Amino acid sequence: MTNTLILDGKAVAQARRAILREKVAEFTKTKGRAPGLAVVIVGHDPASQIYVKNKIKACAEAGIESFHLEKPATLTQADLHKAIDELNARTDVDGILVQLPLPKHLNETEALERIRGEKDPDGLTSANLGLLFSGRTRVAPCTPFGVMKIFEHYKIDVAGKNAVVIGRSNIVGKPMAQLLLQANATVTMAHSKTHDLEAVTREADIVVVAVGQRHLLGKSAFKKGVVIADVGMHRGEKGLCGDVRLDELHGWAQAMTPVPGGVGPMTIQMLLENTFRLAGGKI
Ligand code: GUN
Repeated sequence: MTNTLILDGKAVAQARRAILREKVAEFTKTKGRAPGLAVVIVGHDPASQIYVKNKIKACAEAGIESFHLEKPATLTQADLHKAIDELNARTDVDGILVQLPLPKHLNETEALERIRGEKDPDGLTSANLGLLFSGRTRVAPCTPFGVMKIFEHYKIDVAGKNAVVIGRSNIVGKPMAQLLLQANATVTMAHSKTHDLEAVTREADIVVVAVGQRHLLGKSAFKKGVVIADVGMHRGEKGLCGDVRLDELHGWAQAMTPVPGGVGPMTIQMLLENTFRLAGGKI
C-alpha cells in the first residue's frame, strides 16, 4: 500500500503568510499606510463569528489593517448598502468582505453587487467573476484559488487530467472549474442532480468536493491514485470534518487535503493576498 500524501494547507498558508508579511511591511513603509480590509458581519451566526475572528487574526499576522463592522440581525438592506457605500468611498479600505450567509431577509446578491469590483477580495461580484471567466482575472474567489495554490505547492500537475468538481456555487464550484480549465484540466462539473455521482467521480484523477454534506463520499467514489481536495467543513462533537470520509482513503488516494488543516487555512490566506493585490501590492 502506498502512502497517501497529506496536502497540508495549514503549512502552505503559514509559509505564504510569512512571505506576504514581508511584502506588506515594504508596502506600508513605501505608501505610508497598511493595506486595509473591512469585514462586515450581520447578526450572530456562530460559525460566521468564528470565521470572522480567524480572518481578523490573520490580517494582524500579515500586517494588514482590519476594520470589523458588526451589524444587528435586524439591519435593513438599505442600511447594509449604505454601510458598503461608505466603505467603497474610504481610501484606507482596499477590500470589503461581507460575511455570508446573511440573515434571510437580506438579499446576498444585491449586497455583494454593491461592493466595487476594485474592492472585492472575495472575487464574488459579477464584475470579478466576469473577468475570471473571460480570462482577465483581477482576483479569483479565495477557496478555489487556495485549492489551486495547494496543488501548485505540491507540484500536482492538473494539465490534461480528468478533474471533477462536485458543487456549482458561485463561491466555490463554478470558479473552481474555471481555474482548473485555465490550468488545462479536462473538467466535469457534478452536482446534486447528477445521475450516479460515484460513476462520474470514479473516472477522475482529481476531485474537488464542495457539496456541503458531512462524510458523503468514501473509498467507493474514487479510483486508486486520486487526488482529493475536500472543501467541506462540518462542526460535530469530534470537531471539524469534511464532505469525504478521508479515513477510508489512506493508502488509496495519491494525495488529499485533511479537514481541518487543508483548504480552510488557504481560503483565509488567499483573502489576505487578494486584499494586498487590490491595494496595489505585487505577490
Ligand atoms: N462564508 C463562508 N465562506 C465565505 C467566504 O469565503 N467569503 C464570504 N464573504 N463569506 C463566506
